[in-house]
Amino acid sequence: PATTALINSLPKAELHLHIEGTLEPELMMLLAEKHQVALPYSTIEDVRLAYNFDNLQSFLDLYYLGASVLCDEDDFYRLMWDYLCKCKEENVVHVEMMFDPQTHTERGIGFDVFMPGFARAMAQAEKEWGQSSLLIMSFLRHLSEQSAFETLDAASPYLFMVSAVGLDSSELGNPPEKFARVFAKAKELGLLRVAHAGEEGPPAYIWSALNDLNVHRIDHGVRSIEDAMLVQELASRQMPLTVCPLSNIKLCVFGHMREHNLLSLLDLGLMVTVNADDPSYFGGYLNDNYHALAAHLPITDEHIKTLAANSFKASFLSEEQKAHWL
Ligand code: HPA
Ligand code: ZN
Repeated sequence: PATTALINSLPKAELHLHIEGTLEPELMMLLAEKHQVALPYSTIEDVRLAYNFDNLQSFLDLYYLGASVLCDEDDFYRLMWDYLCKCKEENVVHVEMMFDPQTHTERGIGFDVFMPGFARAMAQAEKEWGQSSLLIMSFLRHLSEQSAFETLDAASPYLFMVSAVGLDSSELGNPPEKFARVFAKAKELGLLRVAHAGEEGPPAYIWSALNDLNVHRIDHGVRSIEDAMLVQELASRQMPLTVCPLSNIKLCVFGHMREHNLLSLLDLGLMVTVNADDPSYFGGYLNDNYHALAAHLPITDEHIKTLAANSFKASFLSEEQKAHWL
């Protein structure tokens, strides 16, 4: 139908994407071989079969395991390059990508390894086809406040490359307020702020992201629908929610795409966007997420256009840059 062609051809922005979550099984196996990293998979098929998750944690275990093959500058370059090529293919003209420094620094791989790799691919894509991209440095919330402060400190020579900080990993038991002081410091340093909240966690975690972390966007936020006051607050502030439909199904946040609340959130007047989260683990890049919604929810071409427009409105682009795409 018309919707399919529309989805593919519309210029879109992607605002919730973990670069480590774009590691395809093929590249994972190649790098495991290159660096002699032992993985519990013998074939590509094994890897895909293992990607069957019950919840966020069961995914995170394999996501951190997969990331252990990323060792040298070239690996990070290749990871980023492959993803940016995907953006070109899908008309994702602007992307705001999260990276998880602690996933690498905890293994002894420093900012001086991954940042130059990312930068080289981003500059090349910008030069070759005008790809627009920026980085969000995300703290692992299952680690301590002190570890987050150390990460912010270690990042200092590279902060010119970082637009914002984020908060990801195991949500339950690690509420946003645990990082209030880290986010206050990041704000002082001129960094913008986002946080995962209300993916598995309750509405109280979304309130905490707003009030204690001063965020500009909520990553996921689908559980906001359980709190009418919160919905009203998010709507009146036009606080963006970066919703990730395929992720939500793979991690059992909703039983089936038919039950996804994205359209309900949109109808409630919220600033909803569609995103891929960890495409190689969840079975699809950005356009696949739009297609999956269109296949299972009563989505019109107008909805698709609104969602694509929202992706720019909710971005960190300047008003002038936004106007170019709206
Ligand atoms: N949620 C929390 N942490 C994450 C995710 C996610 O969807 N992806 C990568 N780290
Ligand atoms: Zn995420």
